[in-house]
Amino acid sequence: CRVTQDELKALVGQAALRYVEPGGIVGVGTGSTVNKFIEALAAMKDQVRGAVSSSVASTERLKAIGIPVFDANEVEELAVYIDGADEIDGGGHMIKGGGAALTREKIVAAQSRRFVCIADESKLVPVLGNFPVPVEVIPMAAARITRQFAAMGGQARLRLKDGVPIVTDNGQHLLDVSGLKIAQPLAFESEVNQWPGVVTVGVFAHQKASVCLLGTPSGVRTLDF
Ligand code: A5P
Repeated sequence: CRVTQDELKALVGQAALRYVEPGGIVGVGTGSTVNKFIEALAAMKDQVRGAVSSSVASTERLKAIGIPVFDANEVEELAVYIDGADEIDGGGHMIKGGGAALTREKIVAAQSRRFVCIADESKLVPVLGNFPVPVEVIPMAAARITRQFAAMGGQARLRLKDGVPIVTDNGQHLLDVSGLKIAQPLAFESEVNQWPGVVTVGVFAHQKASVCLLGTPSGVRTLDF
């Protein structure tokens, strides 16, 4: 029988529990795979002190199962951050932000010792870039940043919902950039980070995964980076 993508997400969501330190505060990402992790975490809720969350959506889900959510500023270092990805390459570099939460995701990832990426096997790619790269931008810089991507061969589109630009949890806009082949994720991330008006580029190379739990029909494959 065929295993659905949803079942693969549930499998890795469950598998991530073994990375959660009893008595600790866990960093929690955003997205449909993380939602499976949060569901699984409910069974362990009395064993964790709380969470730092990367989005309003995840915060609501965590609170609904009775897990206290701390502000990132209240906690120094997190042992582990658990999040999904839109793409991950063989070096643990990722594209993230399909769910619009990339800025807070990068912030929580940066204060965590380990990044555990949970994903179904469709997310593993040889080179990043098939998935359009999300970039959170200050609205007044969007047109110039679009031209800068065009000069690199990328087509940036403003992300819309119901015909109007979506507004992130941080009150900014998002560009989705297609047509890029990101063979050097660290250099790409560093360069785009320099452009005035870029809040966050959705390439996670400086905050890459330490480990990836990849859901496959024959079970969880663990990739260490
Ligand atoms: C959220 O902004 C993203 O970075 C998600 O982590 C990413 O889109 C993966 O989401 P899914 O688990 O829903 O595929």
